[in-house]
Amino acid sequence: MSPTSTATETPHQAPVQQFGENTYGDGLARVYDFMYPVGPDAQAAGVYIARLAGDGGTALELGVGTGRVGAFVAAAGVRLTGVDASQAMLDALHERHPDSGIETRLLDFTSQSTGEKYDVVYVPLSTFYVGRTQQTQLETMRLMREQVKDDGDVVIEAFEPRDYHALDDLKTDTHPFPDGSLMIDTTAVERSLQLIVVSHTTIGEGRFETVKEIVRYAFPAELDLMAELAGLELVERTEDWSGTPYTGASTRHVSRYRVKD
Ligand SMILES: C[S@@+](CC[C@H](N)C(=O)[O-])C[C@H]1O[C@@H](n2cnc3c(N)ncnc32)[C@H](O)[C@@H]1O
Repeated sequence: MSPTSTATETPHQAPVQQFGENTYGDGLARVYDFMYPVGPDAQAAGVYIARLAGDGGTALELGVGTGRVGAFVAAAGVRLTGVDASQAMLDALHERHPDSGIETRLLDFTSQSTGEKYDVVYVPLSTFYVGRTQQTQLETMRLMREQVKDDGDVVIEAFEPRDYHALDDLKTDTHPFPDGSLMIDTTAVERSLQLIVVSHTTIGEGRFETVKEIVRYAFPAELDLMAELAGLELVERTEDWSGTPYTGASTRHVSRYRVKD
């Protein structure tokens, strides 16, 4: 399936943007680095993945974005392939990291494979949740299994969803950006479907733009079951990329899976 975003128009309505795999990336590539600035956490992720891949090893990042984590992985000597559904995100990656050596491909990782196998297949920043149904997430898990070597590692970083799952009302957050613009996020949860719908509205220089984000969250136990069904088993779960132990109070996790015997 190729990523699509189409606009439909009726005589009495403004254009309605359909939600597609590239909606988030194409809409937010310009401000993405303001939303998720490169910092010590991204660096720690790079160290974690590079240690698993080993010197000269290979890795695949699903939803590589602007290379926030991938640039650290590649700088550590890993041969990195990064896939993304948004050409705007991949263009930003190559602009920011022209000499990184990251090989990029435009594809939908929930339904498409690179056709190759890697020492590590990883997906940071809850991007696994872009699969908006349980079946799509299970298929993503199967594709991760298919693309990892038999002695390799699959790594998922994701938020622990209990706070979202308990959300009854709309939640609004504001984020001032360094260029003087302001992002206003309005978040709604459809609990029965485990869906979060966020409207990201950026206001600045006499204009505003709204980009929608829809993700399906999963509790760690569901992720582990999907992994199990895909032929993977959990071997390690930490709270972050630096090895902080995972506890009941953790609000996110880094989970490492290996191929089941
Ligand atoms: C939250 S960003 C994470 C980017 C990067 N991994 C990071 O850690 O900063 C999610 C990325 O996944 C991409 N994405 C969303 N759905 C996708 C899909 N179905 N297939 C491929 N990429 C997708 C978006 O375009 C975006 O670049």
